[in-house]
Amino acid sequence: MTQATDPTVQAFPNLHVFDHPLIRHKLGIVRQKDTRYERFRALVNQIAGLMLFEVSRAFPVEPCSVDTPMEKTEAVRLARSVTVCPILRAGLGMSDGLLEIMPEARVGHIGMYRDEDTLEPVTYLCKLPENAASGPVILVDPMLATGGSAVAAVKMLEKQGITDIRLICLVAAPEGVRTMHEHCPDVPIYTAALDRQLNADGFILPGLGDAGDRLFGTK
Ligand code: PRP
Repeated sequence: MTQATDPTVQAFPNLHVFDHPLIRHKLGIVRQKDTRYERFRALVNQIAGLMLFEVSRAFPVEPCSVDTPMEKTEAVRLARSVTVCPILRAGLGMSDGLLEIMPEARVGHIGMYRDEDTLEPVTYLCKLPENAASGPVILVDPMLATGGSAVAAVKMLEKQGITDIRLICLVAAPEGVRTMHEHCPDVPIYTAALDRQLNADGFILPGLGDAGDRLFGTK
């Protein structure tokens, strides 16, 4: 598949593009235009779950002890409560996959849509768990297009005192990565694919179309 060759994007140290056979296989089916919403939704969640293994790698842990049926032994547990924060609507499509692997996470919601004419994000909701700032927050949105929504969401989280933020998406455009690099250089981006470019309407190419509509069958 054609991938971005933009040197700024390639040099972005906080960009993690997954190169995994299973993720690439599933993403291929997700991209396919006649994949219907039942399968699309299932695959998007499965990909999110697979990505979480890497996204959570630096989560803080603390030592604890457990009693096995045989004896006491040392173990570790997550030291901080994690918040999964989907950007509505499409972010919901990846959240279940993350929560299946990490059911102890809390969930925040950021409601935001992109004005179709200006491509600027419009916020209509921000509901976060109490003390979300005490642990990592995974911001979830399948599409990083111009990056406007992701940057606005990060700024909103930062206003609440949240500093440990990661963004997980399915497909990212170089334009969005550049915008994140410029405005939120400390926020790591985890994406299943880095696509070629945006078209004039702000859609990712080759992309997968409108993730929200395909997830929820609204078009
Ligand atoms: C899409 C997508 C992102 C945003 C990306 O949402 O899910 O939230 O656009 O675009 P950007 O990087 O240029 O800001 P959309 O506005 O289609 O809303 P939806 O999730 O309700 O479908």
